Formats: sequence, C-alpha cells, structure tokens
Amino acid sequence: MTRHRRTHAEDERVRLACRIAELGRTLMSVQEEERRELALVLHDVVSPNLAAIGLNLKLATDALGGAIGEEAQARIEACLVLLHQTARSLRTICTDLRPPALEYGGLLEALENYADQISAPGSLRVRFSGPPAGWRRLPRQTEITLFRVAQEAITNAVKHADATAIDVCLGQNKRRTILAVADDGKGFDPGLLGAVGQKPGIGLLTMSERVECAGGKFTLRSASGQGTRVEVVIPHTAGGAAARS
Ligand SMILES: Nc1ncnc2c1ncn2[C@@H]1O[C@H](COP(=O)(O)OP(=O)(O)O)[C@@H](O)[C@H]1O
Ligand SMILES: [Mg+2]
Repeated sequence: MTRHRRTHAEDERVRLACRIAELGRTLMSVQEEERRELALVLHDVVSPNLAAIGLNLKLATDALGGAIGEEAQARIEACLVLLHQTARSLRTICTDLRPPALEYGGLLEALENYADQISAPGSLRVRFSGPPAGWRRLPRQTEITLFRVAQEAITNAVKHADATAIDVCLGQNKRRTILAVADDGKGFDPGLLGAVGQKPGIGLLTMSERVECAGGKFTLRSASGQGTRVEVVIPHTAGGAAARS
C-alpha cells in the first residue's frame, strides 16, 4: 500500500470509529428516554388505576355488607393482597427505570439510596463509600452511565453470586473518576461467557458498551470462589466527560 493510501485508510478508520461512538451515545440516550417515558406511564396511569381498583373492591365489599359470602370475601381479600404487592413492585420498577435521586441529588445520592434499598440486614450488606471531599459532579450522561453500571453490577451480585457483602466505591481526582463494585460471592470464569451451553446475558455487554461510549475503560475480574469486581475509569477529558463546574 502506498503511503497516501495508508493515510486515507487510517483517516477512514478514525472517521468510522467516531461515527460508531456517536451512534452508541445516541442509542444510550434513546434508551434513557424510553425508560423515562415508561416510568411516567407506569407512575401516572397504571399506579392510580391499581389504587382505584383497590378502592372499588373495598366499596363493593361494604355495599354487600353481611350478604357477602365467605368464599367471595376470601377472594376479595386475596385480590387486595395481590394489588398491594403489585403496587409495591411497580414502585420499585419506576425507581429503577428513573431513579429520582439521580435527577435531584446526582450520582452520590443515587448510589447511596440504591445501596440502602438493596441491603438486607442479616443476609446482605451493601456498603457505599463515596469519594473524598471535593467531589465534582459529572455531565448528566456520564452520571447516568456510572449509575446504570453500578445498578447492573449490584443486580448481578444479588442474582448470581450468593454474596454476603457488596462494596460500591467511588473515587475521583482531577484527571479521572473511578467506580468499583466488588462482591464476595462465588465468582465465575469470564472466559466462558458466550461459550456453547452457557446462557448468554446482555448485562455485562451493555455495561462495557456504555462505558466505552462515555470514553472510559471497563474491567471485569472474577474467578470461581473469589468474588467479582467491576471497575470503571472515566477520564475527565474523554468523550466530553469533564467534571461539571
Ligand atoms: N457478580 C457475579 N457473580 C457471579 N456470576 C456472575 C456475576 N456477574 C455475572 N455473572 C455471570 O455472568 C453471566 C452474564 O451476566 P449478565 O451479562 O449480566 O447477564 P444476566 O445477568 O442476564 O445473566 C451471568 O449469567 C452469571 O453467570
Ligand atoms: Mg445481569
């Protein structure tokens, strides 16, 4: 290949890499927008409807008074219990889809709240250690990326690891922000991901893609019996990820 052709091929490679990164960023923000809309519908339509169904069931029971049979009474009570459980799950789903703390208080508050929400005293301790004093907020998209990565890593530890402790750690200096999520669970062999006979998941894949789109570096370390550690490093100069002033 001549030098001129090589330069042209290199330019084309860089152009395509930029285009792919741009499309990735668009995809992530479309995904966030969809989550936001879904949370809105669930919160504004489904949730009040569930409350109205519960109220109507109670009013119908009162209207029937003593005429309501034992069987019907038991069935209505079962419906009310189910409604209560569904409304509670819906609230958790809405918070996961659009964490209010992330919108209002930012990443630190959202991680703190999420760690508290997942902790189950006596069986699972989720500990969040924030950065040393002087934390500087990151651009909104970068905070969302870090939160979503932590959310998936914690969910994985809960779902797959049989962990008793999960440590979420956020660090920052002038040049970069670092997020680490480590569990003390059973671990796994990352080399086997995607192998024949293994159930493929998209959580780890999505985490690393999100981080790549934010111009950061994603590392996964795990081994059988030795827990799992996910680490994300976001340089403040890459991909527009400079800290907010
Ligand atoms: N913290 C963890 N502890 C143990 N195994 C894990 C952990 N995180 C991921 N894994 C393993 O890696 C697989 C892929 O994870 P993921 O891509 O998030 O998909 P999913 O959670 O939908 O299965 C999981 O099915 C599990 O076997
Ligand atoms: Mg997962």
